[in-house]
Amino acid sequence: MASIAIIGTGYVGLTTGACFSHLGHDVICADVDADKIARLQAGEVPIVEKGLDRLVDEGIRSGKLRFVVGAANAAKDCEFHYLCVPTPQAADGAADLSYLEAAAAEIASVLPNNSVVVNKSTVPVGSTRVVARVLGRSDVAVVSNPEFLREGTAVSDFLQPDRVVIGSRDQEAAIRVAALYSRIAAPIMVTDPVSAETIKYASNAFLASKLSFVNAIATLCEAVGADVNDVVLGMGYDTRIGREFLRPGPGWGGSCFPKDTKALARIAEDAGYDFHFLDEVLRVNEDQFDRTAKKVIDSVDPSLNGHVAVLGLTFKAGTDDLRDSPSIEVLKRVVAAGIPVTAYDPAVLPRENRLSQMYPELDIELATDPYAAADGAASLAILTEWDEFAWLDFDKLAEVMRGRNIVDARNLLDPTIPRRRGFNYRGVGR
Ligand code: NAD
Ligand code: UGA
Repeated sequence: MASIAIIGTGYVGLTTGACFSHLGHDVICADVDADKIARLQAGEVPIVEKGLDRLVDEGIRSGKLRFVVGAANAAKDCEFHYLCVPTPQAADGAADLSYLEAAAAEIASVLPNNSVVVNKSTVPVGSTRVVARVLGRSDVAVVSNPEFLREGTAVSDFLQPDRVVIGSRDQEAAIRVAALYSRIAAPIMVTDPVSAETIKYASNAFLASKLSFVNAIATLCEAVGADVNDVVLGMGYDTRIGREFLRPGPGWGGSCFPKDTKALARIAEDAGYDFHFLDEVLRVNEDQFDRTAKKVIDSVDPSLNGHVAVLGLTFKAGTDDLRDSPSIEVLKRVVAAGIPVTAYDPAVLPRENRLSQMYPELDIELATDPYAAADGAASLAILTEWDEFAWLDFDKLAEVMRGRNIVDARNLLDPTIPRRRGFNYRGVGR
């Protein structure tokens, strides 16, 4: 079993570290955030991610998973070094590599001889070379190993992936990295670093394109009177299309699709290719935020003098992540239209200041449950597909709400149920 340093203990780093320790490796996770490390050392998982607390607990108990402050403190004793730091969008649309370069600079002098640095952050084509240049260590191989996990299902995605992609010109280093995954049953594909980096961006941009397409089809369905749920079901039976990633919504978001789609357009531009297809994918998504916001705004009868009760703030269910959330994009537009908002999300509690810290300009109230959010509301909008919103008590809602309009931007509800209780239901594409 190998010794692995994880540099950057966020959604990807913590999942990677906990899963590798579960597979039997000795793992040390490092972060610059001393508070986060202290919580992890005490066995407290700072993010909402199904199954992660169990693996962290298991790793701490077995001694195979440890946490330290500072990349160099983890790297000095390990054979593999996974870079899992942020690569946010820079002002010009390109990926900002400063965290990656800083992490590489921090570990360069302490890396044991012949160790392998593995890039798991999503990075533009050519970044493996950038890391190698910053390290300046001819005895250390730099390998690309992009991550395809989704938040909310990160642990199962890591342990049962569709594929593992390894990009390396050094065959021995590629085999050593592949061996880390020997207990995982998945195809392992070895290619050159530039192709591995392109696979990651192309996959995310393809999935984002699929969603923009399906949201556009939902708009068409509304115009022609078709039911998008049946349309995508019928499309999905075709194995060339596939059933996954065909759910229409308020627009797509999250910490990666928006930045990665823009970064791929920028990579293409830098390489002399105008990838205008991606501009349209992004534009269709902005249109979807606008369209969803308009439905929410239209659902509020001003004569009722009430707010809109919003259910769901995170970018999808199963995560506490608010980065680039479609729900927030929609709410920015609703608030700008002068509509007061009271929101409930099971992963964003009123006593936390996370929402106001991330979006100080977004003036909304937070409630502790759906019925408190709906108390006195002119309308109700479901923006994130948390399972608990599928089981709302409409009699209770009818008692507390002033209005009877519901916007279901995730097609989570069976429309007959609220309609039977006297509510007006509006979904997406049906
Ligand atoms: P994150 O913000 O949750 O975590 C990054 C962590 O790195 C933070 O805890 C931060 O404090 C730490 N960090 C920054 N600089 C450091 C340094 N010098 N030394 C040690 N720690 C440092 O980010 P994330 O969502 O885990 O994403 C990380 C990368 O993985 C990004 O490139 C992202 O595009 C990619 N990715 C993310 C996902 C996802 O679902 N979140 C999936 C696949 C790939
Ligand atoms: C996405 C990819 O799915 C992962 O493979 C990738 O590793 C990751 O980005 C990354 O690079 O960070 P994630 O952002 O966690 O994962 O979430 P997704 O499940 O892909 O959802 C992204 C957005 O699309 C969300 O807003 C979600 O609500 C929306 N979505 C997804 C839909 O509207 N409909 C769908 O059918 C699926």
